[in-house]
Amino acid sequence: MTILLTGAAGYIGSHTAIALAEAGYDVAIVDDFSNSSPEAVRRCEELTGKKMPLYEADVSDKEALRKIFAEVKPAAVMHFAGFKAVGESVAKPLMYYRNNLDTTLSLLEVMAEFGVGPFIFSSSATVYGAKAKVPYTEESETGGCTNPYGWTKFMIEQIASGAAKADSNMSVVLLRYFNPVGAHPSGRIGENPSGIPNNLMPYITQVAVGRLPHLNVFGNDYDTPDGTGVRDYIHVVDLAEGHVAALKYALGHKGTEVFNLGTGHGVSVLELVHAFERASGVKIPYEITPRRPGDLASVYADCSKAERVLGWKAARTVDEMCADSWRWQKNNPQGY
Ligand code: UD1
Repeated sequence: MTILLTGAAGYIGSHTAIALAEAGYDVAIVDDFSNSSPEAVRRCEELTGKKMPLYEADVSDKEALRKIFAEVKPAAVMHFAGFKAVGESVAKPLMYYRNNLDTTLSLLEVMAEFGVGPFIFSSSATVYGAKAKVPYTEESETGGCTNPYGWTKFMIEQIASGAAKADSNMSVVLLRYFNPVGAHPSGRIGENPSGIPNNLMPYITQVAVGRLPHLNVFGNDYDTPDGTGVRDYIHVVDLAEGHVAALKYALGHKGTEVFNLGTGHGVSVLELVHAFERASGVKIPYEITPRRPGDLASVYADCSKAERVLGWKAARTVDEMCADSWRWQKNNPQGY
């Protein structure tokens, strides 16, 4: 059974490709490499010993998609492709709406043409509004996003669930990721942001490897135990395994289901820095700077629904997240 993954040369897609291959599925990938490298897919093949047919195409290009669907005959689609930089989305909102929505619409239309029902989407905890209270459950209030990137995730959730309501063949699973970090334990694949990282873990690892001089900690006056922001960091391999569980669910159900994928535990910026220092043996110099606009004090998930319905639960510790992130960065100081 072949699963078609869009954007799987990227961070989360590549780890999921490995998890799917290990679970016995065949994987085909479509990516335009606008923010990723084919080398990631080559390494997924090397790690799993399985071929992963790779199509270079823009997911908004329906003609290209039709050829791929005709050849691959996917049983299900996982949609990872998309622009994902929060700050850039504020500067270039139309580019974000055009790309993230267009790709999704084309994909859903071609899925319908080919009668492919199961659709698993990379959504984000960013869809929860600032009014939602931690821990976030799937019923917490959504909307009120603070940036166009977040709105594209919110809108795609509406588009996909609306499509599933109208088409009884469809099975949509919306996966709301919390903060994915870590890397494959081999150190061969990992997160490879272009330019200066926006997210905390790749920033820390680039400081550790000497590419950046120090970490800026965005505020230490939040209402949290040590004053720094608290997030629900989840190991990317746990997240990838969550996708395998979601796929099994989607293959046996119709309609739309939403799941939080996190650990359920909040970790502060300074706790993560210190865990990383312990795991790597490298000191991370940092400075406290003002809060970053749009940041919340504390964000973590209630993941009981995923455990109850999918039988999935994150298992890897913060120390493993740090050790695996560090192994990847140390072995690949300039990325792929
Ligand atoms: C961010 C996005 C979210 C997106 C997610 C992808 C915002 C407001 N949210 O989440 O929409 O889905 O990335 O992973 O941008 N921090 C520092 N110094 C840094 C970087 C981060 O102190 O150099 C702090 C932040 O203030 C925050 C924590 O580290 O408390 C995590 O930040 P980050 O990794 O950027 O993730 P989020 O902001 O949670």
